Amino acid sequence: MKNRKVFVTFPIAKVAIDRMAQIAEVQLSPYGVPCPKDKLMKELAEAEAVVVDGTTIIDAQVVKAAQKLRIVARVGVGFDNVDLKTATERGVYVGITPVLSDAVAELTIALMLALSRKLLEAHGYVKSRKWTEGSDFPHGIDLSGKTLGIIGLGQIGLEVARRASGLRMAIQYHDVVRREEAERLYDAKYSSLESLLKDSDFITLHLPLTSTTQKLIGRFELGLMKPTAYLINTARGKVVDQVALWEALKERRIAGAALDVYEVEPIPRDEPLLELDNVILTPHIGSATVETRTKMALTAAEDVIRVLEGKEPMNLANRELLKRQTG
Ligand code: DGY
Repeated sequence: MKNRKVFVTFPIAKVAIDRMAQIAEVQLSPYGVPCPKDKLMKELAEAEAVVVDGTTIIDAQVVKAAQKLRIVARVGVGFDNVDLKTATERGVYVGITPVLSDAVAELTIALMLALSRKLLEAHGYVKSRKWTEGSDFPHGIDLSGKTLGIIGLGQIGLEVARRASGLRMAIQYHDVVRREEAERLYDAKYSSLESLLKDSDFITLHLPLTSTTQKLIGRFELGLMKPTAYLINTARGKVVDQVALWEALKERRIAGAALDVYEVEPIPRDEPLLELDNVILTPHIGSATVETRTKMALTAAEDVIRVLEGKEPMNLANRELLKRQTG
């Protein structure tokens, strides 16, 4: 029974490893993150399942070489590191773990509050003992009554809307489809991208990275934002033109930004954004809570088990595979 191999490319919750080990031989990568392509291809020669984060690249060559592979279990919801087309052509499931919306929405709200109340500066002000010098700390701004523009109102965007409506913000959104439930529940107004950029006090991105969303927010779009507005990105770095953002921040054409994701991760040591004082930077921690990361690992493990047992995965990125098999 245990001659089936699952290769896990990065550290995940032990409970999930134990779960998969009940039916398969689970091998944890000793190669570091991301897993180098040559090592990955060698390991996948025998594996029926691979568990990956967003950094290890599963490209066409990797998929084609992995003759026994039946599922790529992506622990996360963004699958831009996986060649979905080739996986689908080869009948390889690509599983995702859509259980992280609360965690990412919480981080988004935390970043918005940190920007609006100048939390990092306030912390530095106290720690550097400036408070005792009698200087006056600059005031922040209220969120209540401000407009939040949400670009991409999928599961995560919806959770952000729910929380922002609790903060009594006005919500507008842009998406490829109308979300009538959100319009009703959170009084969210559908808007064109251009109007959203012009009218919002805070803009938050919740889009997948695709060929159409790459650099969606560039120089022109940043130029539409109010000089008092803030940009928050907890989605994917490549959705924003990072050089254009750096220019807009440096020239104070927008008030500030909070970023959890970058064009290149980890962010290079000489990245110019690191020099700016009007940006908050976090290291891609959207889903990084103990509870959520455990849930994500277990969700991936369950789908691996289902596939190895001949069932369909519960959370599939390449849904057309289901249709092809059943239709
Ligand atoms: C996701 O789910 O895509 C997050 O960015 C974590 O990888």
